[in-house]
Amino acid sequence: MQAIGIDIGGTKIAGALVDELGTIIREDRVPTPKQSDAIEDEVVEMITRLGDGADPVGAGVAAAGFIDAAQSTVYYAPNIAWRNEPLRQKIETRVDVPVIVENDANAAGWAEFRFGAGRLVSDMVILTIGTGVGGAIVTDDRLFRGGFGAGAEVGHMRVVPGGLLCGCGARGCIEQYGSGRALQRYANELADQGGIGQALADVRSRNGALNGPDISALIQQHDPGALAALRQLGDWLGQASASLSVVLDPQMFVFGGGVAQAGELLLEPIRNAYLENLPARGYHPEPEFRIAELVNDAGVVGAADLARVHAISH
Ligand code: BGC
Ligand code: NA
Ligand code: ZN
Repeated sequence: MQAIGIDIGGTKIAGALVDELGTIIREDRVPTPKQSDAIEDEVVEMITRLGDGADPVGAGVAAAGFIDAAQSTVYYAPNIAWRNEPLRQKIETRVDVPVIVENDANAAGWAEFRFGAGRLVSDMVILTIGTGVGGAIVTDDRLFRGGFGAGAEVGHMRVVPGGLLCGCGARGCIEQYGSGRALQRYANELADQGGIGQALADVRSRNGALNGPDISALIQQHDPGALAALRQLGDWLGQASASLSVVLDPQMFVFGGGVAQAGELLLEPIRNAYLENLPARGYHPEPEFRIAELVNDAGVVGAADLARVHAISH
């Protein structure tokens, strides 16, 4: 039984036709347009192309925002101009398969739980580290949605009272301290200071700015400045994980998104901060900390599987 998964990201829209084992049959990608109408046009065209000659049971569209319990409306997207956007209806009327809309991190987390890092546990939390910080919670083998559908917005958990203003309208969210953008900010601060930030400063003056790939490349080279920026990020994520542990008590934390490709270099500061800040430390069982396994495919694979689950149950 095949289904289509679409993942609307900040830079690209990815899509795939996926079977029930999570295997990608065919895939597609286009750059993400600026206007939300144009995004919807691209999604419609992609669903049509991916379904051509196949017989998918549905399409799941993963989007970066607060989504309702009916998997239809994007209440609010911090980093896209969607406000009470009836995304499902807008797409479904233009394609010939049933459509569901799902939070992007929920889709990625579900894929990791079903087919990736979390497949052997019943309780898992994923944090996706990109432009924003996304979250998904699996408890007792089920994806947690909350009463209005918009639960598991872990990125907007407050970690600094009165802290930095977030795209969600609140202040001090972990998204402002644990995202790819925050990593860029730490790297720029270190570049300003010179010292261990010298290599960051050199790359910045050569390229005009410090972007994600520049910082990742320096991390790969174990540049002390880039590693210090990554440690700051890991420290915030570890503290947030300790708070999440108290509430959800997962057996595993999974970290996804581009920044997580730093692997053990990111997990180590996360684990350290987690253990330092964990209530009942020394007595509370330690969860596993892992990097997402499906990397760039998690969103599309999870969105497709959730569309399949929806088709079976309706
Ligand atoms: C949004 C989430 C999304 C996350 C990752 C956050 O800003 O609120 O809905 O999952 O970014 O894209
Ligand atoms: Na979520
Ligand atoms: Zn926020």
